[in-house]
Amino acid sequence: MPQKPPSVFVTRALTEAVMARMEELFSATLNREDRALDRAALVAAVAECDVLVPTITDRINAELIAAAGERLRLIANFGVGVDHIDLAAARARNIIVTNTPGVLTEDTADLAMALILAVPRRIGEGERRIMAGAWDGWKPVDMLGHRVHGKTIGIIGMGRIGRAIARRAAGFGMKIIYHNRHQLPEEKEVALNARWCGTVEQLLCEAEIVSINCPHTPDTHLLLNADRIALMQKHACLINTARGEIIDEDALVAALEAGVIAGAGLDVHAHEPQVHPGLMRLPNAVLLPHMGSATHEGRTAMGEKVIANIRSWVDGHRPPDQVLEGWA
Ligand code: 8YV
Repeated sequence: MPQKPPSVFVTRALTEAVMARMEELFSATLNREDRALDRAALVAAVAECDVLVPTITDRINAELIAAAGERLRLIANFGVGVDHIDLAAARARNIIVTNTPGVLTEDTADLAMALILAVPRRIGEGERRIMAGAWDGWKPVDMLGHRVHGKTIGIIGMGRIGRAIARRAAGFGMKIIYHNRHQLPEEKEVALNARWCGTVEQLLCEAEIVSINCPHTPDTHLLLNADRIALMQKHACLINTARGEIIDEDALVAALEAGVIAGAGLDVHAHEPQVHPGLMRLPNAVLLPHMGSATHEGRTAMGEKVIANIRSWVDGHRPPDQVLEGWA
């Protein structure tokens, strides 16, 4: 634990309130211009700082962690997902990793809900038609989509965000099924009116809207592959606000082109900021630039969580949001 203010290196520009507070509390190196850091800049940063605050755009792999100086003791990630951080390598160097759970739940669930409505109701197509000046007036059988009310939503990953989506989906009159590593306690299932599916395959067969809300881990990498997508119903839609790498995007494009499923709503992509070119050609794909937690309130709360984690570590306590290997 450093006796003087810890030296904290923040890789991206955060909200003004968060950066100002970090400057008050820490010896902070900020990236106010938000210029992208190359590998050499990251290596130089971890060689000197006590605390690194990365985001999803930084790859904190074993090589980078090996290049860290003895001082680096905490990686306080700005974000919940930690699949860009090699947790085992960090643990081997006794470097604590923290994240920011809880404060982006409602925002991410709202965005998932927006996609859950946008895909079956063809909102992206409708907007593109207007913007292209191609709308020639109302017609009785034009722009017909599918009703959301009464449909079955299948939520893969019933953590905080999955449950927040379930609560919203219930308000839209949807039936809720879910798959999770562990079945929820009965009282939670009753409160959410959600039915457990023991396998992802069972969920994919039954759901009409599939929402991915699990973390990206070796177990969920390419979980939605061609074989599993083929289990989905022809009128079903796939929504992803978790991580792009959970879906085999080539397989998804092929399935959308062949009409194996009806549509997809994706806020996350396997090779961000690149978006699969096949998806960009499809009218039945609604594509967003990873903006699930992008609210002023959410991003400031995420920064405050980062600060709280650093402060408790400085004070000699276990940070509240320490990520334990195997739980990510
Ligand atoms: C964050 C996210 O904005 O928290 C996460 O895991 O995917 C996003 O909502 C991003 O990770 C910031 O690093």
